[in-house]
Amino acid sequence: MRALVIYWSISGTTRAVAQSIANGLESAGADAVLHDLAKGDPPDPTTADIIGLGCPVHYFRMAAPAAQAAAALRGLDGRSGFAFVVHGTYRGVALNRARAALRRAGAREIGVFSCRGDDRFLGYTRRGYEFSPGRPNGEDLDRAERFGAGLVSAHFSALAGAPPPLPPEDRSPGWVYAAERLALERHLVHAVYSRFMSAATQRCTRCGRCARVCPTTNIRWAKGEVPAWGRECILCLSCAETCPEGAVRSPLDWPVFSPFLDYNVRHAARDPGIEHARVRLVRGRLQRTAETDGLSPTGGDQDGDDE
Ligand SMILES: Cc1cc2nc3c(=O)[nH]c(=O)nc-3n(C[C@H](O)[C@H](O)[C@H](O)COP(=O)(O)O)c2cc1C
Repeated sequence: MRALVIYWSISGTTRAVAQSIANGLESAGADAVLHDLAKGDPPDPTTADIIGLGCPVHYFRMAAPAAQAAAALRGLDGRSGFAFVVHGTYRGVALNRARAALRRAGAREIGVFSCRGDDRFLGYTRRGYEFSPGRPNGEDLDRAERFGAGLVSAHFSALAGAPPPLPPEDRSPGWVYAAERLALERHLVHAVYSRFMSAATQRCTRCGRCARVCPTTNIRWAKGEVPAWGRECILCLSCAETCPEGAVRSPLDWPVFSPFLDYNVRHAARDPGIEHARVRLVRGRLQRTAETDGLSPTGGDQDGDDE
C-alpha cells in the first residue's frame, strides 16, 4: 500500500510532524513517500492509496503555498485522505480548509491531526513573545507517529465500509481572528500588500540574507544591490525577521495592524492552553529574556484545540 504525505514548511516543524506521520505509516506496513511542496508540484496523488496534506497555520488559515496545492488536488476518487496542521496559537479555519480540500478532490477522510509548533511570527516576537516554544516536542512527535500507524487500519476499515469516527470541524474563530484572516487574505496579500515590501536603503547593508531565507524565492537580489520584492510574497516575514539591521519594511508595520497584533498576543499569553516564552529579537536572532509579563491565564482555548 502506498501513502503520499504532502506538506509545506518554513521553519521545519511541519516537516518534523510529516516525517513522524510517515514513520508511523511505514511501521504499519505502508510504503510512505514524503513530498515537500517547496521542491515543486507533488507526484500524481492518484497513484497513492492514502494521501496526506499538511501545513503550518498562517493568519488563521492554511499557509498560502499549501492552500494553493490543496486547491489543485483532483481525482482522488474515494482514496483515503488525512489532513494535518501545525500551529502556534489558534488554528482558525486552517484544519477545516485542509479537510474540505481533500473531500472536494474526492478523498474519503480517515483521520485528522494537529499539534503545536514553535511560533516565531515577527508580529509576536517583536512584542516579546514566542508561543509554543520548543514544540513539537517528543510527545507531539510520538503522537504523530501513532497517528500515522493508525491510518493503515483506518484505511482498511474505510475500504470495508466502516470508516473511523472523525472529530467535528473546528468552530469558527472569534470575530477578531476572522477579521484578521480576511484582512490578510491570500489574494489581498498577493495583489496589494506584496507591493509594500521593501528594504530601507539607508539601513540595508545589501547582504542578501533576506533573499536567501525567502521560502517563495520572491526576493531578487544581486551582490551590492538593495533587494527587490516580487508578487509572490506570503507575508511570512522571514526576511524581516532575519535582517540584522531591521531594514525590511512590511505592511505588518502599519499602525492599523498594531491593535490586532496586541490583541492576539494578550489573548494567547493569557490562555493556559498555550505556553509562551519571553524573547527579544537582537540583530535577526531570538534571545530568551527573564522578563515576566503580568498577564495571567483567563482560561479557555477558544479554538477547540485538541490538547
Ligand atoms: C506569518 C505567520 C503567521 C502565523 N499565523 C498563525 C496563526 O494564525 N495561528 C497559529 O496558531 N499559528 C500561526 N503561526 C505559527 C505557525 O503556524 C507555527 O509556528 C508553525 O509551527 C510553523 O510551521 P513550520 O515550522 O512548518 O513553518 C504563524 C506563523 C507565521 C510565520
